[in-house]
Amino acid sequence: MAILDKHQVLEKNVTLLAIFAFLVVTIGGIVQIAPLFWLENTIEDVEGMRPYTPLELAGRDIYIREGCYVCHSQMIRPMRDEVERYGHYSLAAESQYDHPFQWGSKRTGPDLARVGGRYSDEWHVDHLRDPQSVVPESVMPKYGFLENRLIDGKYIEDVMATHKMVGVPYTDEMIENGKADFAAQADPDSDYDGLLERYGEKVQVRNFDGRPGISEMDAMIAYLQMLGTLVDFSTFTPDESR
Ligand code: HEC
Repeated sequence: MAILDKHQVLEKNVTLLAIFAFLVVTIGGIVQIAPLFWLENTIEDVEGMRPYTPLELAGRDIYIREGCYVCHSQMIRPMRDEVERYGHYSLAAESQYDHPFQWGSKRTGPDLARVGGRYSDEWHVDHLRDPQSVVPESVMPKYGFLENRLIDGKYIEDVMATHKMVGVPYTDEMIENGKADFAAQADPDSDYDGLLERYGEKVQVRNFDGRPGISEMDAMIAYLQMLGTLVDFSTFTPDESR
């Protein structure tokens, strides 16, 4: 019991206890924090991740402007109930290009990290116009005004350049074509080859709100329908080596 007797010295002397507690916390802190100064990147690169298209980026800005994050999180935690309800847990790489990230901690409504493809565009239009028309007990506010607000992506190239400044890998070509790609994604009759070339074949091109002109509703639905669809989880395997 000699070691316990020595421990008594610490327990009976508040100053000594404080000094030792400080030492232990300091060592723990260094072990956690120091490696971050040498690691270039703590995010594992994952195939399929790409910067947002101009239209999705505009939709994301409207999502933030309207405060959707006040009721919706975008982070599926690796716990069984969440994974069964929402799908594969969120990867760090999936919010790699989010400035600011939309993880959130408030879930008045469901998590939206994988809402893309879960509903039709028409469902989203109906739901945003009048949530109670499709989910009678919903407390979500109405956002029908989005379809009356036409947008032309006037500032989208500046927004993209700003995101590039904070690390999103937009190329000069993507930024130069920002306004054209913005319009092309909402118009299936347009020439959208360039858009697919720059952002990948999986980019969804259509008239999202079903009405003429590009509205905030188009941008919002383009954003929602992309959420959680970039990484193909049928082929994804985590890199266990790090
Ligand atoms: C006051 C809280 C609140 C706000 C703000 C809010 N929502 Fe919701 N949302 C809900 C609730 C509650 C539900 C679940 C019932 C329903 O489907 O309407 C929901 C459901 C949803 C769903 C369906 C999700 C699913 O998996 O079924 C989508 C999509 C959605 N909201 C998008 C949005 C968007 C986009 C905005 C911002 C323009 C927004 N919400 C703002 C509360 C909110």
